Amino acid sequence: MIKPGYNLKGLAYRTHAIRFARPAMEAALVSVVTSTPRPSSAHVIVLGNEKGGSGKSTTAMHVAVALLNCGQRVATIDLDSRQKSFTHYVENRRAWSAQARLDLRLATHFCVARGTTLRLDENETIEFAGFADAVASVERTHDFVVVDTPGTDSYLTRLAHSMADTLVTPLNDSFVDFDVLGTVDATTFAVTGESHYAAIVRDARRHRRLFDGTRIDWVVVRNRLSTLGSRNKRLVGEGLSELSARLGFRCVEGFAERVIYREFFPRGLTALDALDENTLGMRPSLAHVTARQEVMGLIEALKLPLDDRGQRRAAARAEWFSAQAKPLDVHDLLET
Ligand SMILES: Nc1ncnc2c1ncn2[C@@H]1O[C@H](COP(=O)(O)OP(=O)(O)OP(=O)(O)O)[C@@H](O)[C@H]1O
Ligand SMILES: [Mg+2]
Repeated sequence: MIKPGYNLKGLAYRTHAIRFARPAMEAALVSVVTSTPRPSSAHVIVLGNEKGGSGKSTTAMHVAVALLNCGQRVATIDLDSRQKSFTHYVENRRAWSAQARLDLRLATHFCVARGTTLRLDENETIEFAGFADAVASVERTHDFVVVDTPGTDSYLTRLAHSMADTLVTPLNDSFVDFDVLGTVDATTFAVTGESHYAAIVRDARRHRRLFDGTRIDWVVVRNRLSTLGSRNKRLVGEGLSELSARLGFRCVEGFAERVIYREFFPRGLTALDALDENTLGMRPSLAHVTARQEVMGLIEALKLPLDDRGQRRAAARAEWFSAQAKPLDVHDLLET
């Protein structure tokens, strides 16, 4: 088993090799993977949910800016090269910063180009190379890489899931969105089964654990929560709590349903930017203050290795996992 301190590009190559296994290529790529690991590698946060419109790009931008504000070196990668919402969000931020003479913090950003040939395998190879190059150029120089994925199942999306140290799945507070994770009984609303996205994450976790022993911390984030209590909110919460024990994710409260999250996009702003009229281009409101608190609450709940203590904790966890030879149980996946 590869020891902690693996290289991300190596993991990408390994995953790619498994898919396009040709003996000579495989041998060459495995030697890349097993070359001497260097001590530090960026912590990878992947925003994933096969369900479209769940808040992945909005959350990705907020997480990236929160990390920049903490003095971390952050890179961002947009794998949704068809829609490019994350990339447009970043471009809007750059443009607004110049237009309003601000100094808004920006991450090193990449948008992985789509393969446009007529062959699926060629397209996947082109996209893989773009992703691997982006990762390789930042994994030793940055503390965090934030990866936004499309709301569709694709080869790159699965690859990114395997590379996550923290997988964040925003989920709209509705049983329609819940359905990608699990099914519920029509009468009792008790969980009756697991769904396709849960299976994708299970595969990614198994693959990653076999590769370097890393336990992917999966955090399901409830998004667009109603600020008022409702039967739906309670039932979805109960279903998620039941499913979290079964699938091994942590469920945390994310952002409430607020118009300002939609208004931020054209200026590339987040709830963490300065609350003044010049920065916002409008008068700050109570919603800005409350949104900022909920974003900071989310960052805390993600338990990222932000400080020395966090980094020591992550290193200890990696070491512990590398010493284990037993299969992964659900309780191993749960935060204690
Ligand atoms: N907490 C929120 N309150 C109000 N609107 C929100 C909130 N979070 C996201 N939105 C809005 O919901 C829509 C979908 O959000 P976003 O684009 O971030 O989702 P996504 O998961 O990245 O979508 P896709 O799967 O299409 O990439 C956008 O219009 C966004 O502005
Ligand atoms: Mg998106």
